[in-house]
Amino acid sequence: MSINISNHLPTVGIDRMSFSVPSHYLPLEALAENRGTSFRKYQVGLGQEKMSVPAPDEDIITLAANAGARVLEGEDLSALDTVILATESGIDQSKAGAIYVHGLLNLPSHCRAFEVKQACCSSTAALQMALAGVSIKPNRKFLVIATDVARYGLETAGEPTQGAGAIAILVSANPRLIAMDPESGSYTKDVMDFWRPNYLDTALVDGKYSIKVYLDALENAWAEYQREADRPFEAFSRFCYHLPFTRMGEKAHNQLTSLVDAQLSKEDRLHQIEAGLMYNRQIGNTYTASLHLSILSMLENDTEDLSGKRIGLFSYGSGCMGTFFSGTVQPGYRDTLLTEAHAKQLASRIPLELPTYEDWYAHSLPCDGQTYLTPLCTRGQFRLGGIDAHQRQYEASPGHPSSTRQDGPAQLAQV
Ligand code: HMG
Repeated sequence: MSINISNHLPTVGIDRMSFSVPSHYLPLEALAENRGTSFRKYQVGLGQEKMSVPAPDEDIITLAANAGARVLEGEDLSALDTVILATESGIDQSKAGAIYVHGLLNLPSHCRAFEVKQACCSSTAALQMALAGVSIKPNRKFLVIATDVARYGLETAGEPTQGAGAIAILVSANPRLIAMDPESGSYTKDVMDFWRPNYLDTALVDGKYSIKVYLDALENAWAEYQREADRPFEAFSRFCYHLPFTRMGEKAHNQLTSLVDAQLSKEDRLHQIEAGLMYNRQIGNTYTASLHLSILSMLENDTEDLSGKRIGLFSYGSGCMGTFFSGTVQPGYRDTLLTEAHAKQLASRIPLELPTYEDWYAHSLPCDGQTYLTPLCTRGQFRLGGIDAHQRQYEASPGHPSSTRQDGPAQLAQV
């Protein structure tokens, strides 16, 4: 006898979100000028204006811990079941980045912590894993953190589409932000559009091909979603896409609207996605965090009240896997947003001169086990203090309001 349990499943979804970005950014005007390119190519052609640049004492762990600390403020940590960290710029082949974050955030030992990977799409797989977990254990919460540093070669076509950042997503029953629909549609195909072998610290990419594969994945994931959900395009008020650069979101939405033959003006099409482009335009590609940053950008910047509105979501990870899924914004969602803190974080970033960007780009930790202390650069809550005996040393940033430590690092190494 089969039992239909679907009626008994709780509403599950995104309860709270927060992002963390490096304390510095490169204005793309400076990059365009130095690379002999028109800034309009970056601003209009790619839809990017600023690029987050990690300092030597920032990495995926410090970004993830900063975002996690904010999203967990005031939460009952004993209810936290699992932390899943999604990244494609992992710092260790064996130990999960989630364990470092678990330690920095003093999470209870019953809380599991592990890492997942499939390019930019693994964060969505992690989110779906968390949703399934909360469906089974509705009294527990799951924390998903997507964190990445997007790096291409200097003076390559990919260079202006770099970026860095993390987003922390608290998943619960009866969520305050977005109730997720159970249906989703995925598409997987073995292709080489973008990849990073273990021996490289920059991605290799066939740029034009990657755009084509992204759009193919969207078309197929949408078709699969329709097979499951049978939900018309008109059921959605807004759409958020994976945004390696924000023009990609426009390309994707144009593709979807022409596929379903939606009779929308250019302005109406843009209206359905534009609030979701705002943060990404100022930050750059954050790989796994990108789609989820766009969701948060939509919630925090859309001037209309989105309560009760359904959002269509497309996650893409090169290599490739794409997933189309959806959710409905919950009444009163604005009360749970951290809009002011996020605006302050972006506004307080420090612009870099091009030579400093190139110095920091070239900076790397020693690989021979020698002790090395990083210079103090970040304004974030956590920092990478250095490396000792092949072990990264993390610490609360001195001077950060959350820190009790008043002294700076003992000795600063040259970058
Ligand atoms: P490119 O070849 O230097 O740029 O690289 P382009 O010549 O194609 O120009 C870009 C756009 O700017 C074009 O518009 C130009 O017309 C326009 P479009 O034809 O696309 O409409 N343009 C101008 N507009 C205004 N004023 C001007 C001007 N000049 C030109 N003066 C490319 C672009 C995206 C290929 C490159 O940056 C790249 O390789 N980026 C990295 C790869 C990437 O982001 N791929 C996206 C899909 S794959 C993905 O999303 C997965 C990923 O996130 C990784 C993961 O999953 O882990 C990357």
